[in-house]
Amino acid sequence: MPFVLHAVHGSSITGEESHLAARKRYGETFADIEKLIHDDITASKEGKLYLSRLRQLVPSLGKIFTELPLEEAFYIEDERRSISKRRFVSPSFNDVRSILRTAQILEMTKHNKKCLKLITFDGDVTLYEDGQCINADSPLIASLIGLLKHDIFVGIVTAAGYSEKSGDKYYIRLKGLIDSVRDSTDLTPEQKERLLIMGGESNYLFRYNAQEQLLNYIKHEEWLLPEMQNWKNEDIKTVLDLAEYALNELSKKMNLPSLIIRKERAVGIIAKPGHKLIREQLEEIVLSIQKSLENQEASERIKFCAFNGGSDVWIDIGDKSLGVRSLQNYLGGITPKQTLHVGDQFLSLGANDFKARLVSCTAWIASPYETGQCVNDILDWMK
Ligand code: IMP
Ligand code: MG
Repeated sequence: MPFVLHAVHGSSITGEESHLAARKRYGETFADIEKLIHDDITASKEGKLYLSRLRQLVPSLGKIFTELPLEEAFYIEDERRSISKRRFVSPSFNDVRSILRTAQILEMTKHNKKCLKLITFDGDVTLYEDGQCINADSPLIASLIGLLKHDIFVGIVTAAGYSEKSGDKYYIRLKGLIDSVRDSTDLTPEQKERLLIMGGESNYLFRYNAQEQLLNYIKHEEWLLPEMQNWKNEDIKTVLDLAEYALNELSKKMNLPSLIIRKERAVGIIAKPGHKLIREQLEEIVLSIQKSLENQEASERIKFCAFNGGSDVWIDIGDKSLGVRSLQNYLGGITPKQTLHVGDQFLSLGANDFKARLVSCTAWIASPYETGQCVNDILDWMK
């Protein structure tokens, strides 16, 4: 509302004065929210979250791990996105998403230079276009190597689940990056070994081995969280069987041109070649599957996630909160404040990066191009 009220007034298209007034007022609005977040963090530290005004206004708010310099971030994004200079298009969802992301990165870099220890990236839409691979010509490769040069752990936390211990399938999708890390003369062997891949949300861990120059499969005993060690294979099988049955029923009911794929730790539905599943069908599948797995004893004893991948739906055992937390643990106890997860799926309904928000700071991007901008900001502000 304040955004609409404060949009540029007057009849002049360029209106320098009114744009400065809008800029100042938007800045003040973000300063107010920044203050509410600061008070929320203080209340949380004192164990008095019930006093937080922000939480009274937005009861569904998750835990906020760090301060967010929103006013400063607004001024940066205003320069980039012409927010206050726009007269007909008021500040949008994407403007706010960018401001939040920039505030999070400013706090973890410029304001606290040694804060960032682990940065995790989703795969599809974040590092490469949906269903594609990271090729040798991707501009992101140099940026990711830049992060490793700062001794930051770089984890790729993807839903794509390939159980082969050779890591060949991950190598195919990440070849451009892995070859560049292998050939880099700037990185030390220790820095190269800061590259990890967590596949199938939280099922398969690989780490780059500088001596062998390939991805090493890391055994479950070395990293599985205690709560995951207790999961029983029968429960995993029951959940996947129930999900597979429900997918088949839905496919018949909606007459979908689809194929169902069963894996060791996942089951998914994809369109037959030459066909497409529309967003409404995908969302219907996610909601139906969530409903049919609810209140089942087996699904209550383990964790799973059902999500809309944009052109398919998957039900994976585990989720990205477990994937990111396993990495934090395996790497010696990295905290949520020191971790940033970059991904494209943060809408709460049927989105798999959303779970990472429980255990880390997050940066919401909408394309590999935005991921590049985000990593370049990190590198600039860490100087
Ligand atoms: P992410 O964006 O890296 O998390 O990858 C999500 C996409 O990976 C899905 O939309 C699927 O197209 C693809 N995918 C391939 N294998 C799997 C799997 O086993 N589980 C979930 N998604 C998979
Ligand atoms: Mg994605």
